[in-house]
Amino acid sequence: AQSAKESLYIVSQYAATFFVKQLWETEEGRGIGLSYFKERGFREDILKKFEVGYSPDVWDAMTQSATHAGHKLEFLEATGLSIKNDNGKIYDRFRGRVMFPIHNFTGRIIGFGGRTLKTDKNVPKYVNSPESEIYHKSNVLYGLFHAKKAIRDLDNCYLAEGYADVLSVHQAGVENVVASSGTSLTVEQIKLIGRFTQNITILFDGDAAGIKASLRGLDMILEEGLNVKIVSFPDGHDPDSYMHHVGAGAFRTYLEQNRKDFILYKANVLLKDAGTDPIKRAGIIRDIVESIAKIPDPIKASVFIRESSSLLEIEEHILLSELNKMRSAKL
Ligand code: CTP
Ligand code: MN
Ligand code: MN
Ligand code: MN
Ligand code: MN
Repeated sequence: AQSAKESLYIVSQYAATFFVKQLWETEEGRGIGLSYFKERGFREDILKKFEVGYSPDVWDAMTQSATHAGHKLEFLEATGLSIKNDNGKIYDRFRGRVMFPIHNFTGRIIGFGGRTLKTDKNVPKYVNSPESEIYHKSNVLYGLFHAKKAIRDLDNCYLAEGYADVLSVHQAGVENVVASSGTSLTVEQIKLIGRFTQNITILFDGDAAGIKASLRGLDMILEEGLNVKIVSFPDGHDPDSYMHHVGAGAFRTYLEQNRKDFILYKANVLLKDAGTDPIKRAGIIRDIVESIAKIPDPIKASVFIRESSSLLEIEEHILLSELNKMRSAKL
């Protein structure tokens, strides 16, 4: 008999295949799901590569199909694909959504994100699979299976926020991209990237939440001893919307020409708020040195101190003594 874990992989693959069939081969799927993707500008080859699908807008279509095919409800429930309510009635977790299957880095399907097609603010935009024996959110990066070769070859990993971002950046011809998707960035996710490259380039959304997340993310990356750069997007764009806004070629050029190291990025973000207020400016300097203090390698750290000194027009020894204070406070 196969292990319970193996059974969870098998029902997840069954569901993914079911959702793909619904998207391409049913009237509802094509009329609602596929046309949604087309309106957003996604190419068919990208949709197929990432095995996106559509979950019909009825109570239990997937569960019915899977159980008739001989899959046990027990395993469907264990993945969160099927849910039993208080009255014992079984229903599908994902209904009337476009579906993004989540692969582990060996390519097996372990969970799903489902995006609503409704604009109703009371409907959650994304529903995600719960944690299960095969899906541990904090250890998974969306897109890693499709990106890992390019990440190694190019020795850099673009890190975005969402499913659509990964698809669109791929569509622009840039394949070394993953997303933290459905969780804020974790140390485990950074370590996972670290198995393929030491260089991460953050591509978070250009809204307030994305900027905040990028500042948190870059400190975590530095603390893990990896190198981090940031590309930010104008006017609240995210990588997906910006790619479709400017087109593939211009998007690639943008990525190449707007990669900032973390000091320049932090200085830009923070100086925008501070203006000329000297007390606020002093706070920013401390804030930047705080990030540098997270870098485990003292030689790397000293290079960034030198850069900050010339950028912020502060003598190096002042920054260095600040750095040492922070380091000894941490010990
Ligand atoms: N997310 C989630 N649950 C939500 C909102 C977001 O799990 N209610 C996750 C999804 O993985 C999503 C990512 O956070 O892809 C980024 O969120 P957001 O920027 O709001 O969505 P987009 O990915 O930009 O989605 P879209 O372009 O389809 O609107
Ligand atoms: Mn697959
Ligand atoms: Mn966002
Ligand atoms: Mn977004
Ligand atoms: Mn988006």
